[in-house]
Amino acid sequence: MSSQIDHLLNETRRFAPSADFADNAVATAELYERAAADREGFWADQARDLLHWHKPFTQVLDWSNPPFATWFADGELNVAYNCLDRHVEAGNGDRVALLWEGEPGDSRRVTYAELTEEVKRVANVLTDLGITAGDRVAIYLPMIPEAVAAMLAVARVGAIHSVVFGGFSADSLRSRIDDAGAKLVITADGGYRKGKVSPLKPAVDLALAGRNGGAAQETVEHVLVVRRGGNDVEWTEGRDLWWHDAVPAASPEHEAQGFPAENPLFILYTSGTTGKPKGILHTSGGYLTQTTFTNRVVHDLHPETDVFWCTADIGWVTGHSYVAYGPLANGATQVLYEGTPDMPHPGRWWEIVEKYAVTILYTAPTAIRSFMKIGREVPKKFDLSSLRLLGSVGEPINPEAWMWYRKIIGGKTTPIVDTWWQTETGAIMISALPGVTETKPGAAQVALPGISIDVVDEDGAHVGNGNGGLLVVTEPWPAMLRGIWGDPDRFVETYWDKFRTQGYYFAGDGARLDDDGDVWLMGRVDDVMNVSGHRLSTTEIESALVGNEAVAEAAVVGASDETTGQAVVAFVIVKQSYLSAHSPEGLAGTLRGWVGEQIGPIARPRDVYIVGELPKTRSGKIMRRLLRDVAEGREVGDTTTLADTAVMSVISAQVR
Ligand code: PRX
Repeated sequence: MSSQIDHLLNETRRFAPSADFADNAVATAELYERAAADREGFWADQARDLLHWHKPFTQVLDWSNPPFATWFADGELNVAYNCLDRHVEAGNGDRVALLWEGEPGDSRRVTYAELTEEVKRVANVLTDLGITAGDRVAIYLPMIPEAVAAMLAVARVGAIHSVVFGGFSADSLRSRIDDAGAKLVITADGGYRKGKVSPLKPAVDLALAGRNGGAAQETVEHVLVVRRGGNDVEWTEGRDLWWHDAVPAASPEHEAQGFPAENPLFILYTSGTTGKPKGILHTSGGYLTQTTFTNRVVHDLHPETDVFWCTADIGWVTGHSYVAYGPLANGATQVLYEGTPDMPHPGRWWEIVEKYAVTILYTAPTAIRSFMKIGREVPKKFDLSSLRLLGSVGEPINPEAWMWYRKIIGGKTTPIVDTWWQTETGAIMISALPGVTETKPGAAQVALPGISIDVVDEDGAHVGNGNGGLLVVTEPWPAMLRGIWGDPDRFVETYWDKFRTQGYYFAGDGARLDDDGDVWLMGRVDDVMNVSGHRLSTTEIESALVGNEAVAEAAVVGASDETTGQAVVAFVIVKQSYLSAHSPEGLAGTLRGWVGEQIGPIARPRDVYIVGELPKTRSGKIMRRLLRDVAEGREVGDTTTLADTAVMSVISAQVR
């Protein structure tokens, strides 16, 4: 890690915006001045300029009861109306909203008029199913237009969606359904992934089967099923209904009603430092203001001419903010792709860029690094000249990947924006502004206008340029999380207790300020891993492992990985009876598969090491730092606080 940091800090390449780009850029340097002069007034202006309010707000921020904020609280809006109807009413109904590409090569173009009509019908179906404002709806769908329509329809009736990534297991789905008390699940029979149909409905059936006495059965009344994969599914009469029966039969008339700006919009579960995922709660007005604003200025979106492609799945926050909400509120045309980047050939993404003449591409460093590995010959076969801006999100981007992205994908000219934010922040917080900022490969650089951040030491004091510390947000922001679903105490403890005196939001990330005061992100400082830009908790995987009957004890660490940023590495003590009956390789393979089944394939460990002991302090705490040394093939660090100092040499020998 430290050599990585030195390497980053020695990065001296600079890229000034071209005059051409700057002339046509949405962002201007003046934004910083306006926001600095009156931060709340600046956000109020954005909210008024970018959104339609059914009832205008007179209040901006209420921070009288920190950390519980309200923004624009006496205003009313309808999020779906902002993303749909108003574009149709403005005469843009024929503009394409979604350029959808299925993995097998089928495609659909959905205009704003068509999407609006579809969402109105779905909203009527939801109402018929008894969904009203405040009800929770779980969405477990592949990347198909219906996924976007489902989210917007839930928003339209003032209900709350909880999108669960289609790669999560039935168990993960069940715990999310239970925690939110969802009344309805919207799913598909299956979706295409890696060349075959990956079933979804069976996981929903399993999640609702009420194993272990789960509460799911009691709250879920209906399951609305899109036919996509064509795979056989079981059917529960009275509970399950087909989208293709219900939606076309519903009325296309539906008037969007205004809801208070603080009406909850969605819950999105993300891993924390404990075994239980947190349901991050976002509300409507502030969230939509900041996602719409950032999508315009950071992605330099010109909705009339651009073709925007954010490659994230709607199951993650990036898919919420920069597939479903920001781009649609801006009236953009965007690509939606169902499958994996390498199906049926490694150039699939670049073929899509060429086919739809994509102008703005927003993706994750892990994807860029896997393309680097495959080699430049693949993208070189396609015409990528339509691209004029590239974005990165989800994890630190190393300067090599940044340079490759710019050179090979961006034709040596496109600006790159490295955007730092989190599920909790709702929208981009730190990023260069294209056309304004001189960029530095590997740095997220500057807080956006209207956003206040700092890098501080353990006591909350500013570290000063040239130093490292903890990243904090020092002032409330419109898209900030409003809480953790059902757990206000955990909300306060996790994010606000550490710097309670100062009232800072603690992000959980380490960062450094360079000599210009620009921010370089250094990764998580807690027990959260970042694998391919997805957050995973070490504890969650450990509890999955000890849930297997063969396992006595387990410790999980995130080890740096060339492609995925970090990889899950597990050290497992197996019960004696299993050890004698199975080979370590066999056990390791079984346990990798087990975690995949329990949580989802993204959580499957890269390596499982069967060991005899784990390094513990005298008080019994596992020293993950030492295991990380082993997993990364380094000399093991200071072992003096271990109860048994010999244990690391035993483990190192077992791992080799
Ligand atoms: O560690 C940071 C990293 O991803 C975490 C947030 O993960 P999640 O809530 O899943 O949201 C990912 C997409 C917004 C952060 O705490 N992270 C995100 N973006 C960057 C980043 N690390 C460095 N540079 C980034 N641009």
